[in-house]
Amino acid sequence: MMKRIFPNILVLAVSVMLASTAQTAYAAAGHAAGSTAVHDSAMEMMDAMRKQHGSHEHGHDFEAMDQLSPLQFERTVSLMQDIGLVMPAMDSIRGRKVFVETGCVVCHSVNEVGGDIGPSLNAKDMPSSMNAFEFAARMWRGASSMTAMQEDMFGEAISLTGQDLADLVAFAHDAKEQEKLTKSQIPEKLLKFLDN
Ligand code: HEC
Repeated sequence: MMKRIFPNILVLAVSVMLASTAQTAYAAAGHAAGSTAVHDSAMEMMDAMRKQHGSHEHGHDFEAMDQLSPLQFERTVSLMQDIGLVMPAMDSIRGRKVFVETGCVVCHSVNEVGGDIGPSLNAKDMPSSMNAFEFAARMWRGASSMTAMQEDMFGEAISLTGQDLADLVAFAHDAKEQEKLTKSQIPEKLLKFLDN
């Protein structure tokens, strides 16, 4: 039980970094909300992404992580206590809600439900054993293009809490919970962004 929730510390840290750096990167790129030039280039970028992801099944080469040895486990627990870190519980049911309500579903599909601007996030394509932080690391790598597009489509970049991220990671890996996702769960205001 404890073992399974460990990797969440990093997820938390990365989510904080993600939130702050996304803003900086966006500002640094000279993007101004509502500008037509930005809108056009974001639209072009989205078209390019859509073509890229539509043309092949995007491979997820998330690396699997070695299991912690009992000694590493003990050290990690003691480090967490020493430096005052806590873990959120991971909830894939809530993750499904976060996935549709924050708008991930506009660009990412799960079992064919959702958009095709970003790669699909099907649990069945994920490795059976994987470092949970790798999901956040992947988001981090795609962060600059993702947040620029979100600004353009939604008027602002999606903001996530550490708990949101923990739950999204759980949802991304829970094939049973993913089966419960249907198009009818997508909020009205987001449906207009989906053209499939
Ligand atoms: C506006 C469109 C858009 C939205 C909204 C969006 N993404 Fe993305 N996402 C992308 C694109 C495009 C990429 C690929 C970026 C790249 O390759 O540079 C990506 C990449 C990713 C990746 C890496 C996938 C891989 O295989 O490497 C993950 C994980 C991810 N997104 C999760 C999310 C989650 C979770 C949300 C909701 C909180 C979200 N995305 C919202 C467009 C979006």
